[in-house]
Formats: sequence, structure tokens, C-alpha cells
Amino acid sequence: MSRDFNTASATQTKDEWLTPPAVIAALGCFDLDPCSPIVRPWDTATTHLDINADGMKMPWFGRVWLNPPYGDQTFNWLAKLAAHQNGIALIFARTETKGFHREVWQKADALLFFEGRLKFFHVTGEAGGAANAPSVLVAYGEENASALKAACERGLLRGQFLRLRGDA
Ligand SMILES: C[S@@+](CC[C@H](N)C(=O)[O-])C[C@H]1O[C@@H](n2cnc3c(N)ncnc32)[C@H](O)[C@@H]1O
Repeated sequence: MSRDFNTASATQTKDEWLTPPAVIAALGCFDLDPCSPIVRPWDTATTHLDINADGMKMPWFGRVWLNPPYGDQTFNWLAKLAAHQNGIALIFARTETKGFHREVWQKADALLFFEGRLKFFHVTGEAGGAANAPSVLVAYGEENASALKAACERGLLRGQFLRLRGDA
């Protein structure tokens, strides 16, 4: 795995940092998580694809939850979600990078920048420490932009909501 701008820290060496379950619960039900651990402590969607199935190569369907692997490949996953146009991604808020400009600023419908740092989870279900970088939720499609806005307004997720296009 490369260690570049989208890794959690300069010493980040693993992909198995799981989304805090409260984040997903605040956003409603998802049909597909295309990058899921082989052994997971909880469900993140109705259908999960792990590295053995290779979620990047498989067709995506329905509403997608995406917390992609770190490194260069992150924005390949974002590109696939942008083309799919139905889902929410959780990535580090490296807002200045080329990938963020190409796949987020140019294509996403809405963003939610978290207040504070998220604590990601281990596959054992235990919480890790605070991440070394800020995180952002990236919505593609109207339903998902609305879900971000609603989660913010209802106080389920604390952060700054930013509408990029559309009218939700
Ligand atoms: C940052 S973790 C997110 C896990 C989970 N989706 C969540 O939100 O909690 C990224 C996951 O992608 C998995 N992964 C890496 N490459 C993959 C691939 N080609 N296809 C499917 N999953 C993959 C890793 O094993 C890891 O569990």
C-alpha cells in the first residue's frame, strides 16, 4: 500500500480502519458496501464485498456506502462512486489534492466536514484513537445529499454541511 496524502498518518500501514457505526446509522440504510473487511464486527450495508471478491471490479448497485482503502487508490473508488451517482463516501479531507478536486469538488452533490477527529474502529469492534487527519462525508445523488443535510440538522452528525450542486 502506498503512503501518500490520503493515508491517516505518515506511518499508516493498514486499511482495516472501520467507520464508527454511529456515522452509518445516522445516514440510513445502504444496499452495498463494496470494500468491507473479510471479517467484520457489524454490517454496514445489506451486501458486502471484501478484497477477495474485489469490490472495485464488481458491478455496484443501489445505495452505496464507501469508506475506501487508503492511498492512491482512494480516488479510483471515488471515481466509481461518482459514476454510480448513488452513495456516500467517507474519506480524509485532503481538500487541496488533485483527486479531491477531480472526484469531489467537480462531481459531488454535498459534503459534511466533521467537527473534530473521528475515532475509527478495529475489526475486533474496539475503538481506535482519534484519526490523524480530518474526515469528510461526500454525497453523490440527491437522496444522499438530503441524508447528509438531515443528519446534520438533526444533530446526529456534528459538522459543517456544504451543498455543492442541486437544491436539497
Ligand atoms: C477503510 S476500511 C472500511 C471498511 C468498511 N467499509 C467500513 O466502512 O467500516 C477499507 C476496507 O476495504 C477492504 N478492501 C481493500 N481492498 C479491497 C477490494 N479490492 N475489494 C473490497 N474490499 C477491499 C479492506 O480490507 C478494508 O476492510
